[in-house]
Amino acid sequence: MYSKEQTIQWQKATQEFLKRDDTVLQSVQETETLRQILRFHEYRYYILDDPLIADTQYDRLYKLLERTEKAYPEHITQDSPTQRVGKNITGNFVTVQHLVPMLSLDNSYSSDDLKDFDRKAKQATGLQQITYCVEPKFDGGSISLIYENDFLARGATRGNGIEGDDITSNIKQIRTVPLSAAFSKYGIQQIEIRGEVLINKNNFKKYNEELIEKGLVPLANPRNAASSTLRIKDAAELRRRNLEAFVYHISYYSLLPGSETPVALKTHEGALKLLWDMGFRSPQKEKMIFNQIENVIAYCNEFEEKRDNLPYEIDGMVIKVNDIALQEELGMTSHHPRWAIAFKFKARQATSKLLNVEFQVGRTGSITPVAKIEPVYIGGVTVSSISLFNEDIIKEKDLKIGDAVLVERAGDVIPYIVKSLAELRTGDEREIVFPEKCPVCHNELFKEDGEAVWRCVNIECPAQVVERMIHFASKDAMDIRGFGEANVRKFYEQGWLADIPGIYKLDFNKIALLEGFGKKSIDNLRQAIEQSKQQPLHRLIFGLGIRHVGETTAKALAQKINHLFELKGFTEEQLQTLDDIGPIVAGSIYHFFHNESNIQMLEELEELGVQMQNPNSSTTAGGSLLGQTFLFTGTLPTLKRSDAEAMAEARGGKILSGVSAKLNYLVVGEEAGSKLEKAKKLGTVKIISEEEFLKLINS
Ligand code: IVH
Repeated sequence: MYSKEQTIQWQKATQEFLKRDDTVLQSVQETETLRQILRFHEYRYYILDDPLIADTQYDRLYKLLERTEKAYPEHITQDSPTQRVGKNITGNFVTVQHLVPMLSLDNSYSSDDLKDFDRKAKQATGLQQITYCVEPKFDGGSISLIYENDFLARGATRGNGIEGDDITSNIKQIRTVPLSAAFSKYGIQQIEIRGEVLINKNNFKKYNEELIEKGLVPLANPRNAASSTLRIKDAAELRRRNLEAFVYHISYYSLLPGSETPVALKTHEGALKLLWDMGFRSPQKEKMIFNQIENVIAYCNEFEEKRDNLPYEIDGMVIKVNDIALQEELGMTSHHPRWAIAFKFKARQATSKLLNVEFQVGRTGSITPVAKIEPVYIGGVTVSSISLFNEDIIKEKDLKIGDAVLVERAGDVIPYIVKSLAELRTGDEREIVFPEKCPVCHNELFKEDGEAVWRCVNIECPAQVVERMIHFASKDAMDIRGFGEANVRKFYEQGWLADIPGIYKLDFNKIALLEGFGKKSIDNLRQAIEQSKQQPLHRLIFGLGIRHVGETTAKALAQKINHLFELKGFTEEQLQTLDDIGPIVAGSIYHFFHNESNIQMLEELEELGVQMQNPNSSTTAGGSLLGQTFLFTGTLPTLKRSDAEAMAEARGGKILSGVSAKLNYLVVGEEAGSKLEKAKKLGTVKIISEEEFLKLINS
């Protein structure tokens, strides 16, 4: 999409715009340049997954465009990056007709099925050899996109294949869908493209964790989540779910007068490349071309093996005849094209037996029913324990102890019970009885109005105390390596750890006496605990386990303050002015910071050296690293790259996007590649490890 020269040119223009401190841009031309810069960075971020600037820098430029367009609404264009801000949808979706019916694919499950498909295609065409394009079968919600005169004119769901719902406003919020694309360059006036909307596994996991945090039931799997999100009416909720789209098929196009069919569109491979070059995310890198069905089969099997390592869900591969003229010759049955077939991977479902239900106490006192099932092997792991989340789900799914149950596990997704197989009941099944008292501290349980979750409200409940510490040390919170659930429980049971500040007062001499703790593991644990004191503020806020405060809310809070204790001064109304914070969340935060024992705990943490300043705050900049430039490369042993960058920036450091003579420090992690080589060659860059970096920022 962008050549090397163009990349350099846009990056240079970016630096120039970043230097400016205009409140608004005056000229139409400059405003358009800024839009192009933003589109370039969206492409780097969303399509290539290789950003060249920090998120905060992007935000600064985006805000400049927003201010400019507000001052000069006549300068807004329909494909401006600001036009992705969706609106809430009221009323029903409008039904629209697809230009071409959206057929589904015939399925195959074995290499024999694929050989059959190949044989039939050869027979029908009389050819000895057929070229196939093989690509992933994305597991999400199907969409159709229409571009007219280079602009996105309509986005629709598949619906019944003939008609779908007009979801243009929702589609515009998906950053991997360009709002405009230069189809006219190829002589195309109107084009209909098919694709799939997905939620990647990581975003799905995060989103579900937030739902669980709020006491809500998580979404079952990324596929259902993506397809149901397409028709969501709440624009903010849609944004939170971070949809992505892949496009994989051109179903229709019309040409501008005097134009001829572009050569690229004579093959499927060419179509995928054309779409990629236009800024779409097509399976350009994932697809492969083969002339032999045996090689097609081998590629399908290879992909099935790496299915779990992909960032998104796929449920098979799609094999397409590459030559479009040949596709037309093969035509279709009433249901499926004859020129393509889906190769479905092995199911991720299995039946098992519900043996028992246990009740666990979470860190906010929530009582979670957990199904214990006869162990079953699904997609590479043995599942024996499945969360049921709340009482309502048990009723909804009509579960009974002794039931045969259908279990699904998709990739990294937590396993869940799809349904009970009621028709197999023998009469020996038992009702699941929800406890009336906390199974750990035996206090009464309460359920708030409108909530589905029962809670133990005794904050001293040992189960809650332990869960709070586990959460505090967890990966997305303070990320204390080597201090996972097992160790927290062990130290708690020994009586060496009673609360969160206790983590920073552990007696390592005692721990050394425990079996399995050698000098090295103790040193590592000590170091991890020590390093966690420097975690960015949002991680600390998240780690406190305030009810309803997930990672996103923690970040929104951290951004507004210079020091954690400033939150003591926020009223509930003030808290509600922050992004995504409603009355319930605001109430929970307010109460947390107006509880004397919480404040004492925080004061103790600060005395123990846990930093409570905001590393992102501009007011703390101007610190020890003022004027120094940094670049991070490779996987750092303990820090997330974005956190490390924020730490450097908070102390006045500047993040560069590439190795140059201007770079002072290159912080290298594992598998550092060309940047390290380049820095070594230059000879002027200080190459340091994460440990050295941490020393530097704390010095
Ligand atoms: S091609 C005319 N390619 O799988 C054929 N479909 O029943 C157009 N899907 O409804 C479909 N990944 O939603 C095609 N790479 C891919 C796909 C794909 C996922 C979906 C699509 C379709 C269903 C098959």
